[in-house]
Amino acid sequence: MLETLSPVPPDPILGVSAAFQKDTSPLKIDLGVGVYKDEAGKTPIPRAVKRAEQELLAAQTTKAYLSPVGHPGFNAQVAELTLGSDLAGRRGELALAQAPGGSGALRLGASLLQLARPGSTVHVSDPTWANHIPLLGGAGLKLATYPYYSAERNALDFEGMIQKLGALPEGDVVLLHACCHNPTGQDLDPTQWAAVAEVLARRRLIPFLDMAYHGLGEDLDRDAASVRLIAKAVPELLIAVSCSKNFGIYRERTGLLAVLCNGSTQAGIVTGHLGRAARTLWSMPPDLGAAIVDRVLSQPELRQDWMVELTHMAQRINGLRSLLADKLSAATDTDFGWIKQQRGMFSRLPLSPEQVARVRDQHHIYMTPDARINVAGVSPNSIEYLATSLATELRR
Ligand SMILES: Cc1ncc(COP(=O)(O)O)c(C=O)c1O
Repeated sequence: MLETLSPVPPDPILGVSAAFQKDTSPLKIDLGVGVYKDEAGKTPIPRAVKRAEQELLAAQTTKAYLSPVGHPGFNAQVAELTLGSDLAGRRGELALAQAPGGSGALRLGASLLQLARPGSTVHVSDPTWANHIPLLGGAGLKLATYPYYSAERNALDFEGMIQKLGALPEGDVVLLHACCHNPTGQDLDPTQWAAVAEVLARRRLIPFLDMAYHGLGEDLDRDAASVRLIAKAVPELLIAVSCSKNFGIYRERTGLLAVLCNGSTQAGIVTGHLGRAARTLWSMPPDLGAAIVDRVLSQPELRQDWMVELTHMAQRINGLRSLLADKLSAATDTDFGWIKQQRGMFSRLPLSPEQVARVRDQHHIYMTPDARINVAGVSPNSIEYLATSLATELRR
């Protein structure tokens, strides 16, 4: 039976890491996979996370099942972290389910939408994180795109975006990156978010917000302002939260799906469906990451220490953005100031797939074929080499 299967083409993002590992050049630079890297090029475990984990493991007396919707403490803490201490005024209207990472939360949300309105259309930004397509489409939803980024101008195509959203049919779903857009790093400003919230409410669209980089853009409050604004503007909203990056627990698979419902009765019904849908997908989410996050957020000392490290991560990324923008501008005589305005780990360079391949083969610099770079992979030690190497292609 299995002979019917043909080989899977290499994953565009994971394939870059594999090629980087094989390269023996001492000059090689990895700007591919989307994980945070510190000054030493390592992906660290925050101190507070490590301590919470040690304390939890020492105190744990059972590993019995929890529930299909996961850890109640974690769900409540992450909902507050995202929506604010007043839960955007929507306390009682929330249905929460822990999920295996932000990816699991996206998949669970897609299942919920498919249950509520089979074959609904989800509109994603052009471009978007490649995995959005199979995660949402795999549940049976239809996919479409809205304009988001102009590669010619290296800037947001806000006109195109708002026009398209304003013409969508009532009930369609709109996937939005809450902050730190992947792959472009290009976010909306507060005025633009307000305009989007107004269109979503007026056109009765269902927003699905993807919050994968909370705290890595500006800070925890400013990064979540989009979610809180939209939560006040529309009756129904889905939010997929990932704790992978901001807590440094990528492989623990920790995320939350928060669904804001039209009233508490609906929230109860939706919670029941989330539990049942989770049961058919993964039965129960993994516990350790969620238990760690719950502990970090609920113990003031750990929370404070985590916030210090998170602030350092965001500041480091933004510092590297400035450095890279200045060096590229100097090396090419072109303005790369837009890299400074963007947020989160990613930016997209104006390079064709052929140029990306040449930069890799001739200069040992690795990025995804769409020229997405992980800014956290830039090192002040090799910035001159990086900028002059990239400039050979950027000037063409
Ligand atoms: C935009 C976006 N959403 C969601 C995720 C999912 O993260 P995870 O499933 O690892 O928590 C990622 C991870 O790269 C992402 O970039």
